[in-house]
Amino acid sequence: MMLQRKNIVITGGAGFIGAHLARALAEDNRVTIFDNLSTGSREAAADLLDANRATLITGDIRDLHGLDAVFNDADLVFHLAVLNLRACMTDADGAESVNVRGTLNAARAAQKAGAARFVYVSSSDIYGDVDEFPTPESCNPRPTTIYGATKLAGELVCDALRRANGFPALVVRPFNAYGPGEHAAGDSGEALPRFIVYALAGRPLPVYGSGAQTRSFTHISDTVRGMIAAASLESIPDFPLNIASAREVSIMDAARAVLHALNLPDHPIEHLPQRPGDMARQCADVSRMRALAGFSADITLEQGLPSLIDYLRSSAPDPESAPRLWPGS
Ligand SMILES: NC(=O)c1ccc[n+]([C@@H]2O[C@H](COP(=O)([O-])OP(=O)(O)OC[C@H]3O[C@@H](n4cnc5c(N)ncnc54)[C@H](O)[C@@H]3O)[C@@H](O)[C@H]2O)c1
Repeated sequence: MMLQRKNIVITGGAGFIGAHLARALAEDNRVTIFDNLSTGSREAAADLLDANRATLITGDIRDLHGLDAVFNDADLVFHLAVLNLRACMTDADGAESVNVRGTLNAARAAQKAGAARFVYVSSSDIYGDVDEFPTPESCNPRPTTIYGATKLAGELVCDALRRANGFPALVVRPFNAYGPGEHAAGDSGEALPRFIVYALAGRPLPVYGSGAQTRSFTHISDTVRGMIAAASLESIPDFPLNIASAREVSIMDAARAVLHALNLPDHPIEHLPQRPGDMARQCADVSRMRALAGFSADITLEQGLPSLIDYLRSSAPDPESAPRLWPGS
């Protein structure tokens, strides 16, 4: 499917990944962002909105009728709206209603509108406790968090609709995306921006547990390129697609890479209690996307970190707004 001159709706398009995706797609398509602005913001896509290169409709994916009106003439829907990992830890009802019911709503609205493709943006967090590394899409998911479980439920909804009546759903599973626009503060804050914010403020870098946990950190421009490559495939694969860097990096090495990039080699690192449900290892098998779409995520952490550092230097979030501890820890 050529992503040109299409009407594209992005749920969660005012969030971190969604705004980057909107920016990339707005070059050649008409983009509508649908977002309740809970963790996302108008500012995330202000450049596009101010230049009339995308439209923002404020609404909630839990409102099926609202979705019907927005999806009306959509050729393609990217579904990213989500209740994030941290928020899901203290709001199980919200996790279910946004991540499961909301995904069902979005899929049904896209189906009703006759969209040619529905891209469900799942997550590597569905893998949880797997013991196969690098992890292929075919392995048996074993989520360790409510977030991972509800993201997996969203996949199953898409899968069932596809099998039952040919609903054109495609599932992608991005691994830890990082880059400009990533949340440092509040419930959405992630490891790399938190490290940078704490280092810039002269405070020890908070590492949960030993820091031996590994992740496939993927620069946002690679993540978005992979998502678009998957959505552009001629035919829809009936299996999910990992979107990730092939490089496995420990949290301690990521902390050291941040300190190296900031030229602060002796800056202290503080070990905090382990996060409940924290995945010990995340390492993507990227061979499917390579074989199907010729895609590989090539930006290394060392190459990609400066863009996140520059962004955080200019937005200067307060470390107090990036909590060290996890709910329940
Ligand atoms: N960031 C990552 O590393 C990563 C990795 C794997 C998968 N993902 C997935 O990518 C997607 C985007 O994640 P992100 O990191 O950009 O998060 P984000 O929090 O920045 O974006 C989520 C967006 O959804 C919106 N939203 C939340 N609830 C909503 C609702 N009920 N109705 C409408 N909009 C709502 C928020 O306002 C926000 O703009 C999610 O589906 C997430 O599961 C992210």
